[in-house]
Amino acid sequence: MGARAKTVYRCTECGAESSKWAGRCDACGEWNTLIEEMAAPRAAATGASRRKAGISSFGSGGSVADSPQLRDVVGAETHRLTTGLAEFDFVLGGGIVPGSMVLVGGEPGIGKSTILLQVAAQLEARGHRTLYVSGEESPLQVKLRADRLKGAALEVSLLGETLLETILATAAERAPTVMVVDSIQTVFTGDLEGAPGNVGQVRECAARLMRFAKESGTAVMVVGHVTKGGGIAGPKTLEHIVDTVLYFEGEGSLDHRVLRATKNRFGSVDEIGVFRMTEQGLIPVDNPSALFLGDREKHHASGSAVTATLEGSRPMLLEVQALAAKAGFGTPQRVATGFDGRRLALLLAVLDKRAGLSFATLDVFLNVVGGVRLQEPAADLAVAAALASSVYDKPLPPDAVFIGEVGLGGEIRAVGQAERRIAEAEKMGMTVAYVGERSVPRRAPKGLRVAGVRDLGALFRELFR
Ligand code: TYD
Ligand code: MG
Repeated sequence: MGARAKTVYRCTECGAESSKWAGRCDACGEWNTLIEEMAAPRAAATGASRRKAGISSFGSGGSVADSPQLRDVVGAETHRLTTGLAEFDFVLGGGIVPGSMVLVGGEPGIGKSTILLQVAAQLEARGHRTLYVSGEESPLQVKLRADRLKGAALEVSLLGETLLETILATAAERAPTVMVVDSIQTVFTGDLEGAPGNVGQVRECAARLMRFAKESGTAVMVVGHVTKGGGIAGPKTLEHIVDTVLYFEGEGSLDHRVLRATKNRFGSVDEIGVFRMTEQGLIPVDNPSALFLGDREKHHASGSAVTATLEGSRPMLLEVQALAAKAGFGTPQRVATGFDGRRLALLLAVLDKRAGLSFATLDVFLNVVGGVRLQEPAADLAVAAALASSVYDKPLPPDAVFIGEVGLGGEIRAVGQAERRIAEAEKMGMTVAYVGERSVPRRAPKGLRVAGVRDLGALFRELFR
């Protein structure tokens, strides 16, 4: 064993450095903000190692590095590794980029270990070497999961290890194409004193894994736990360090899962992939609209409306359910699942003022089916229609789709890419689309009537007269 590397304590609030740990930062006075981290090397690094570490040379002590013009930089866009799990590749922007680092977050039990083991298995089946490092589960537990998965899961090499130095040494020797680290919160370096999972450890381990990825060309995929608030546990900087952040979401009780990119240096964000959790692991769903509308026709009641949302580049039909019921004493409740509570309050006020629908004595519950979050204003019209349908207790036409933003005057505004949404609705067998007047396409689609509506009053007269 060599001498312990030198460490310092840094305040996460003000960045002040101190050589000893203390409960309170001397510089800014905040409590419990000092975390241990590796001291920056004092001696001037050589030009080569500085270049490797991505540090530009300036001031004294650095040797001069070349700085070619961009046109002289050689190399082609790196070839991506496709996993064959179509939805996973899609969310990444077309496959895994060699030498990149991807963070996969999500609640416990959502399927992070499952999907990464499936990815490793698929890559093995395509002749790539993989290494699955598990600090969360025993090798036997991982084996039991591999037994349930189809494909080449049993070919994946497993390393049950949590010490970063051993993980990196093993990875350097085996030179896998892709390494999975499950999870970043269980890994620790012997150079820092803190326990695995503490902020300093997580940050240092992530930074070194990132360096390994860049230097070796191995793609590193790490699992990160999420906190109650939904962020990835550990320092916020973790999300800044990595190239790509994926979140895995879903409702525990339902069997489908949504994978979403929230940061992607090699592709666009907001793309989603949909999977179903089955006995044999996660199966990509290539027609999410059908999945989300699946249960609908069987029990069609008042308060249900369908909208066509655009998640990333892909249109998708979703059902919104509203229930307005007589409130007990006190302030009526407003509960929204999968929809912004303030946006709901705004729509209720508009419905009251512009369409004469009062919710003052009604509890209001709003739910986006399937555990998906509707974040687009384009969903306003479906929410308003669902609310009105519940108040009148009259079902909406079962094959109608509602697309439009509702303004404060009750007017229905145009939304982006209306034609693609309408096309998706037509594909899914809808026969009428209610949209803002300016969203009516010039060329009418074949199997679907597009009804341009000016405002909520006009829409409700047509629907409920
Ligand atoms: P897991 O990948 O262990 O979740 P995470 O790593 O995010 O904590 O998946 C956990 C759940 O998935 C568990 O409840 C069992 C279920 N599961 C299946 O339904 N089918 C399968 O083939 C597998 C492997 C797991
Ligand atoms: Mg797991």
